[in-house]
Amino acid sequence: MIAVPSPAQPAAAGDTGAAAAAVNVVGLRKRYGSVVAVDGIDLAVRSGEFFTLLGPSGSGKTTLLRLIAGFERPDGGRVVLGGVDVTQVPPYARNVNTVFQDYALFPHMTVWRNIEYGLRVRHVPKAERREMVGRALEMVRLPGLGSRKPAQLSGGQRQRVALARAIVNEPEVLLLDEPLGALDLKLRQEMQLELLRVQREVGVTFVYVTHDQEEALTMSDRIAVLNHGSIEQIGTPIEVYERPRTAFVAGFIGVSNLIERDGRRMTVRPEKITLLEDGQQEPPGMQVESGRIRDVIYAGVLTRYVVDLDAGGELVVSRQNAEAPALGDDARDDRADDAREGQARIARGGRVRIAWRAGQAFTIPQGPDQGPSSGEGNP
Ligand SMILES: Nc1ncnc2c1ncn2[C@@H]1O[C@H](COP(=O)(O)OP(=O)(O)OP(=O)(O)O)[C@@H](O)[C@H]1O
Ligand SMILES: [Mg+2]
Repeated sequence: MIAVPSPAQPAAAGDTGAAAAAVNVVGLRKRYGSVVAVDGIDLAVRSGEFFTLLGPSGSGKTTLLRLIAGFERPDGGRVVLGGVDVTQVPPYARNVNTVFQDYALFPHMTVWRNIEYGLRVRHVPKAERREMVGRALEMVRLPGLGSRKPAQLSGGQRQRVALARAIVNEPEVLLLDEPLGALDLKLRQEMQLELLRVQREVGVTFVYVTHDQEEALTMSDRIAVLNHGSIEQIGTPIEVYERPRTAFVAGFIGVSNLIERDGRRMTVRPEKITLLEDGQQEPPGMQVESGRIRDVIYAGVLTRYVVDLDAGGELVVSRQNAEAPALGDDARDDRADDAREGQARIARGGRVRIAWRAGQAFTIPQGPDQGPSSGEGNP
């Protein structure tokens, strides 16, 4: 690595308990008028971790990121970076860099100058700057484009410049606010892999904001799920997907699939449920329920069946489309309805039995949360 001309280290009192964490947020609060944007958040991000803040629009993700960066002052609580309390420290003196959603590149500067900017501000010698910028451009796979202006780049290239401009400063923590939000799906998926590669290569701690569940699951070491300014759950992608702790998490990550049985709310993921063919034996050790198919949704890789259960509630069952469905005259219905493998036609309105292993269903604690919602911000 290149030598880091580090910014002025704040002399605030250290927090021994948080020493291991790259970012430690304690009881953080921020209110705008009557809106509580961040409602008492505690979290610790480990050094080198790819940590994602996931939540619906208005859940407080950007506000939390801006509080960590120092662009906003909290109404309460503390921000501790690398064991040092920086709550009262201005943004430029915190060892973090931010990649904003709109990239915020300087339009009048070339790509090279944009990336070099932070180094110039810190009076890094010219020769060193040249080497660092060159290396950053290579890392984001844009060598040769240094003399272009941002307007002469594609969206994906601009995104890479923004990333290069941040990593060239070699911050301990990189804060990224929906950096891929403006890109189309294909490019977004490519850039997800690129971002991961860069993060592993540089070893920087990433705090990454997205409202895209799949993106969060793909990229993160751990995910914090936010709702109305609070954290509903922190865990690995597998933990939050397979064992959602609240109804909100179950609904926001994937299909909610909540039913109530014996006074308990439980959830089971669509792909863990089997559709039993007519006359097919109920596999031992499985929970079996009967119902009627209300909807069949063809989605390419898989087909989703919405089943109204006789015992109350509904569950979505998904099935891999391992074989090409027949395309008849009424193709739209046929391709969805014909599940082929079992010969029985699983069609809208049809009676079915569904089954899942007991261990695949999880009880959701009855909590004060409002359940799955689209979360259009605080009231
Ligand atoms: N400067 C501000 N003044 C007043 N209210 C604000 C301000 N910034 C944010 N808010 C409010 O705080 C809440 C949280 O906003 P925030 O921008 O943190 O959400 P977000 O999770 O980043 O949403 P999105 O996914 O849409 O970017 C929202 O209700 C928002 O309207
Ligand atoms: Mg935001």
